[in-house]
Amino acid sequence: MSGVKPVEALSEAEAAAELERLARAIADADAAYYQNDAPELTDAEYDGLRQRNLAIEALFPSLKREDSPTDRVGAEASDGFAKARHSAPMLSLDNAFADEDVADFATRIRRFLGLPAEEVVAFTAEPKIDGLSLSLTYENGKLLRAATRGDGQVGEDVTANARTLADIPAKLKGKGWPARIEIRGEVYMAKQDFAALNERESAAGRKTFANPRNAAAGSLRQLDVEITKSRPLRFFAYAWAAASEPFSETQSGAVQAFADWGFVTNSRMVRIETVEEVLDYYRDIEAARAGLDYDIDGVVYKVDRLDWQQRLGFVSRAPRWAVAHKFPAEKAVTTLLGIDIQVGRTGSLTPVARLEPVTVGGVVVSNATLHNEDEIARLGVKPGDRVEIQRAGDVIPQVLRVVEAGQGAVWEMPHTCPVCGSAAVREVDDAGRADVRRRCTGGLICPAQAVERLKHFVSRKALDIDGLGEKQVVLFFEKGVLRAPQDIFRLKNNIDAAGLPPLEEWEGFGAQSAKKLYSAIDARRKVPFARFLNGLGIRYVGQTTSQQFARSFLSWQSFWQAVKAAEAAGVDSDAYNELTGIDGIGQAAARALMAFEAEPHNRDMLAALLEEVEVQDEVPAAIGSPVTGKTVVFTGTLERMTRDEAKARASALGAKVAGSVSAKTDIVVAGPGAGSKLVKAEQLGLQVMTEEEWLAFIGEA
Ligand code: IVH
Repeated sequence: MSGVKPVEALSEAEAAAELERLARAIADADAAYYQNDAPELTDAEYDGLRQRNLAIEALFPSLKREDSPTDRVGAEASDGFAKARHSAPMLSLDNAFADEDVADFATRIRRFLGLPAEEVVAFTAEPKIDGLSLSLTYENGKLLRAATRGDGQVGEDVTANARTLADIPAKLKGKGWPARIEIRGEVYMAKQDFAALNERESAAGRKTFANPRNAAAGSLRQLDVEITKSRPLRFFAYAWAAASEPFSETQSGAVQAFADWGFVTNSRMVRIETVEEVLDYYRDIEAARAGLDYDIDGVVYKVDRLDWQQRLGFVSRAPRWAVAHKFPAEKAVTTLLGIDIQVGRTGSLTPVARLEPVTVGGVVVSNATLHNEDEIARLGVKPGDRVEIQRAGDVIPQVLRVVEAGQGAVWEMPHTCPVCGSAAVREVDDAGRADVRRRCTGGLICPAQAVERLKHFVSRKALDIDGLGEKQVVLFFEKGVLRAPQDIFRLKNNIDAAGLPPLEEWEGFGAQSAKKLYSAIDARRKVPFARFLNGLGIRYVGQTTSQQFARSFLSWQSFWQAVKAAEAAGVDSDAYNELTGIDGIGQAAARALMAFEAEPHNRDMLAALLEEVEVQDEVPAAIGSPVTGKTVVFTGTLERMTRDEAKARASALGAKVAGSVSAKTDIVVAGPGAGSKLVKAEQLGLQVMTEEEWLAFIGEA
């Protein structure tokens, strides 16, 4: 905040003007953070604004504004839209960067489907639009609802806003549309429209948008529909879900149907048959990129045949049948001002480059990760150097290399935690290799770790409590009323017990927001299995792994029973095999769970937390399938489909796919050449089926 007058030196008139400026700046920052998911200030800058505002109000109480930021917490801004649950999750895409990644994608598909070499696999290829995705529900041809992506499961209902877009038909044209269908696509702003909008905004003395994507997001998510209407938003339709009837056999046919029904589809979409053609297309689009009238950040390839898409299915949050081939990251050169240390929730110390702010691909970057001390040594980077940085999509910016060395001294990684002062060490594995990361050994006593764990616990992918964001976690932590996850549910009591005034009297909270926060917390006393497990922040047990455990165990009790049993019996036990036998679960995750359970503090925390919340059972992926909840092992050669496809299909039907046979196995599907697993199954008297019998059993013979 250099160049800003000290608060004490302000005249009354200056103070009033300053308060007005700050109210606007903070409201804008809140909007960027909460509504556009695009923070424009660092936390320190934001806190600086709020502190200055507070200091001026303290000195000039009579000047405090009606709309003072002190009386508002930012989260309120996101409360305006109703929640909308998607009938099928809105997925993301896996990324490919190099040509080989694209070749691998094609190979994986062939392998999964078990296709012979001569079989042609056709793809659609189309630009990847840099906007925000939107799902449109049509019933009997009429637009019923429009919802943003949100977390993929639940978005925001923006129907009224979406109706203002000329590219979104209120009624479908033509015929042949299913009685019910969700059309999905991208809302975006054309480059020229964006430039004109920014010119208007700046002429009117308002803040401009950083890039067309932010402008599109900010314009669609307006509580005042008139504002959305005045903004030049467009829409490309490229996907669908939940169609009540089939309406095409191919991806390309489906998109053609969208065009017939009155949607705008991307004219550059093509259907191609070889990886070479795919790569040629990529290079053509890359060359055309600057001249397109909308921003793109890559191209998307999708398997054209829908029966194959169906068989390929999904891995966690992305389809196996599509990939985004991204353009190379944008780069810039700037000065490294210093290196800060961030302490993560598992205690890892990450060196972060503090940079002279620089614009990279339309976004101002002032921090970049340096990963770890080996990376710093490899780069030979020190404060004062000119460095090249890059930023790719949503990925954290990185320092690539030193362009010009400065006069700074060699930087050394601290060997103690900058927050709690505990020793920070590099763990050495069984093979004697030192971990690249240095970790704080303070564990539960380290406030930084505790705060990060709490932030993770309430984050969008875990408990997702409205109004309890990072800022509030830090505040409650500092006041001593939130130290462990269970405290969230005891917040009111903890505040009383600490002799603090009730929350509605705290700076930054009003009666409204305190009430909203408490009810948002109460709403999470019932929490889905996968969110709860992910929230615990156990190493190697992130969102995907948590989801896999939830799908396979269904109930928290039976899952944690298995963790306890594995912890008690060790890595040679059936219980351990039950954890690691699940498709996609590695030993690291199983061991981390056991280590978590072995630690008395964790057991106490979990017990206390479970007194406050009820972990809901996972709803099986396919209720009523004959294999829902059953544990299945595939062994021997399969002839009708590949092993991967068989496993994926079984999981999709709600079965637990295990890698080894135990007394807990329900069905063993044995093909020719089955060996010891079949013998064990027979010894245990388990149900054994041939592949044909299995297919008949699941109704796919
Ligand atoms: S297909 C199941 N096609 O990219 C596949 N997505 O990184 C659904 N996107 O959330 C997506 N252009 O918002 C698809 N031509 C395109 C796209 C596209 C942009 C966005 C979309 C998605 C994100 C995934």
